[in-house]
Amino acid sequence: MKILIINGPNLNLLGQRKPEVYGQYTLKELNAFVREHFNKIELDFFQSNHEGEIIDSIHNAMENFDGIVINPGALTHYSYSLRDAIEACALPVIEVHLSNVAARESFRKISVISDVCSGTVSGFGAYGYVLAVQGLINQLKRTKQE
Ligand code: DQA
Repeated sequence: MKILIINGPNLNLLGQRKPEVYGQYTLKELNAFVREHFNKIELDFFQSNHEGEIIDSIHNAMENFDGIVINPGALTHYSYSLRDAIEACALPVIEVHLSNVAARESFRKISVISDVCSGTVSGFGAYGYVLAVQGLINQLKRTKQE
């Protein structure tokens, strides 16, 4: 099983960007933390500050991966092209946020991708990525059995 974890704009700044909101881990540490929970699963990590590159990575994932976990950063709240890419993608996609976006500014309460994702995890910090991968694995196993 191969899962792609995508992080969007400004998540390369983890560790220095609002650690009280997004946690102490750098992106490298966050990726290592997620990886150490899954020794039997192939995980690949991609981060970009560019919407088009993220969309390309979703298109390319269709050939090479079984599912995607994505934290699109602020693209979550307004990117219809990201939404269309997720909708067009044949793979299950899980949305993840470090912070509890439902408890923050009103613009963050809107996600234009939630309803085209298989599920959303929000507010559990780095552990949310582990939960998202676990949920995705469970879903992939269930659909294989059907
Ligand atoms: C975020 C929440 C977004 O609103 C914000 O723009 C981010 C990070 C989160 O992980 O909590 O960049 O997706």
